[in-house]
Amino acid sequence: MTLDGKVALVTGAATGIGRAVALAYASAGAKVVVSDIDDVRGQETVDLVTEAGGEATYFHCDTSSAEQNDALVDHAKQTYGRLDLACNNAGVGPAPLALADFDDDEWRRIIAINLDGVFFGMRAQIRAMLATGGGVIVNISSILGQVAFPGAGPYVAAKHAVVGLTKQAALEYAAAGIRTLAIGPGFIETDILKNLDDEGRAGLVALHPAGRIGQPAEIGEVVAAVSADSWSFANGAYIPVDGGYLSR
Ligand SMILES: NC(=O)c1ccc[n+]([C@@H]2O[C@H](COP(=O)([O-])OP(=O)(O)OC[C@H]3O[C@@H](n4cnc5c(N)ncnc54)[C@H](O)[C@@H]3O)[C@@H](O)[C@H]2O)c1
Repeated sequence: MTLDGKVALVTGAATGIGRAVALAYASAGAKVVVSDIDDVRGQETVDLVTEAGGEATYFHCDTSSAEQNDALVDHAKQTYGRLDLACNNAGVGPAPLALADFDDDEWRRIIAINLDGVFFGMRAQIRAMLATGGGVIVNISSILGQVAFPGAGPYVAAKHAVVGLTKQAALEYAAAGIRTLAIGPGFIETDILKNLDDEGRAGLVALHPAGRIGQPAEIGEVVAAVSADSWSFANGAYIPVDGGYLSR
């Protein structure tokens, strides 16, 4: 198994893409710290990993809190002795508004979770990885980390900034053995899309040359794959996993 003996953490892993990342890390041999603010479904992810023969533990972490990201990394070190891999996945979509219609609170909410959370996570993870000789951090950006989308202003801004943070860390920490990558999912079948009507769904499908929306496992498998040592020269990159969305 490509991640045998590694210790991983995933934020926002109670459902959706984060859950799929936890399952993929574990099936590749990593021990996984599952974290989220939804403790019930977070524990369900742990149970799914365990039922599949993997090893996992749950830790509550609101990713918009620096202290809770520090505590999450401490939990990984205390439970499994070290931290080798991290996936900064937790994220939320905005109220659909044109840019000038966002009030301060909604702007701050989206930036706090989708951008501050990635920085707080990376800072704690990098400090831990520096102490043990390296690691791999995968940030979940989006196609909207490369292009705009109507009504998604603060989300688009945050996801572009996540790509910038990913490059910055590669520049500063490659020599210390830390690789940092950003994954850019197209639209994926998760709770984020649960309020779509048929017309809205068809509109999204039409934006993907693949002719469909993606599945969470199709992102989880890529995160686990790029975290393996066989990807050792890949660093600082934005990797699209979007059914061709950005090729249009
Ligand atoms: N689904 C898509 O179409 C899509 C496309 C591109 C990128 N993404 C990104 O993928 C990531 C996962 O999204 P998803 O589609 O699986 O969404 P989801 O809503 O299914 O899961 C998001 C998870 O994050 C958790 N969460 C919310 N706020 C949190 C906080 N403050 N701290 C910690 N956890 C928190 C939720 O409880 C939930 O478990 C997000 O960063 C999202 O922006 C999703």
